[in-house]
Amino acid sequence: MPNDTTQDAHLTLHDSRTGREFELPIVNDTVKAMDLRQIHAHLGDFGMMSYDPAFKNTVSCTSRITFIDGGRGILEYRGYPIDQLAERSNFSDVCYLLFQGELPTPRQSAAFKTQMTEASVLPEGIENVLAGVPRDAHPMAVLGTLMMALGCHEPGAKDVRDGECRRIHSLNLLAKTPLLAAMVWRHRINKPLIAPDPSLSFAGNFLKMVFAEDESYEVDPILERAMDVLFTLHGDHEQNCSTSTMRVVGSSEATPYNSAAAAIAALSGPLHGGANEAVLRMLAEIGSVEAIPAFMEKVRNREAKLMGFGHRVYKSYDPRAKIISEIAKEVFEVRGRNALLDIAVELERIALEEDFFKSRNLYPNVDFYSGLIYQSMGFDPAYFTVLFAVGRMAGWIAQWDELMADSEQKIARPRQVYVGERGKTVPG
Ligand code: ACO
Repeated sequence: MPNDTTQDAHLTLHDSRTGREFELPIVNDTVKAMDLRQIHAHLGDFGMMSYDPAFKNTVSCTSRITFIDGGRGILEYRGYPIDQLAERSNFSDVCYLLFQGELPTPRQSAAFKTQMTEASVLPEGIENVLAGVPRDAHPMAVLGTLMMALGCHEPGAKDVRDGECRRIHSLNLLAKTPLLAAMVWRHRINKPLIAPDPSLSFAGNFLKMVFAEDESYEVDPILERAMDVLFTLHGDHEQNCSTSTMRVVGSSEATPYNSAAAAIAALSGPLHGGANEAVLRMLAEIGSVEAIPAFMEKVRNREAKLMGFGHRVYKSYDPRAKIISEIAKEVFEVRGRNALLDIAVELERIALEEDFFKSRNLYPNVDFYSGLIYQSMGFDPAYFTVLFAVGRMAGWIAQWDELMADSEQKIARPRQVYVGERGKTVPG
């Protein structure tokens, strides 16, 4: 394997228009797009640029948070494999890990939990924002609305270049997002929000705020564990669409609340976090195992997409999907088998055998089975992506903090190739 860490590792480019050659240094398997600027361009004064719609082959930052090897199906947070974190850690400690860079000691873990509890108080009157929001509004739209409203109560959050300011508001976002998410649910079912219970774990407290009728509610340990693992699995996933949104908006020095609201909007789309809801709707529409061949025919003819399959980075089995299928078994033991599971299992079996999917490296992603678990736990499909957002807030914050501390970063501002008309005259 070529060693690209040596100083003279480079890429030689030959410009057939001018006959000139250029040497671009190679570092970490990348060349700097700005190094292309030395090459003459016909358009504009800037020199050559790279063209990459949808950033399919563009590295926008260096990061120390999450490592993915999409070919081998490896996912690590701060160097720790996701399966070990899911099995041996808990979501609160994973938040600490993502944000602080290392797993906490027991003392740090307890102190972090106390800080989270102290920050778990919503500003007075925030529930009034919901007065004009229809009960059947999409939960992700409601969550985004509440996030913007929360930001209205945090004028101090604008000092985003100050590390201490970022620490305070990151903690605030981590602690308050589950409360906002619970508010979204309780508004949907027309019930008041239940106060957080600091004696419970992050996941247990969340389930209680969502489902409890009164103080006597007891969290089922299997469901608590499942929720905790699902939050952990969704914690971060490097430069995905919503995280990139958090970074792009954050790069303008917007407050973290405004940036998080934008990230929530990005996550809501069915090609991203909204896929968990779309999978459930797809399974319900297919309706039976017998109807699968007709649906697959539609997918092959590009009249439908197999939701919950495919990924920009994973070209093998998504390691999160493997862990989720194990969690699903445990939840179904408590809650009974989800009737749509047979359809999902058969879809997966066929997809893993068929050339259409194999040749395009389409494997189940994190969203293929998560919705089945959420539904069995008692959530309705429109709410699934809110659960994703609660987990992903940890990653959004860690990535935003890393961005703000990175001296190489500036306001994110891509370029374009203008292909429209020019020089027209407005009729006088
Ligand atoms: N069903 C059928 N065909 C698919 C699917 C799918 N789910 N996903 C990709 N393909 C096909 C495309 O049509 C394309 O075929 P072609 O080369 O013959 O034109 C090929 O596979 C490559 O797909 P792209 O769309 O180029 O891949 P991209 O990286 O842009 O998209 C994405 C990735 C958005 C995840 C896509 O696979 C998809 O839409 N999946 C379904 C939605 C989903 O599950 N999203 C959740 C992703 S995970 C997350 O965000 C949490």
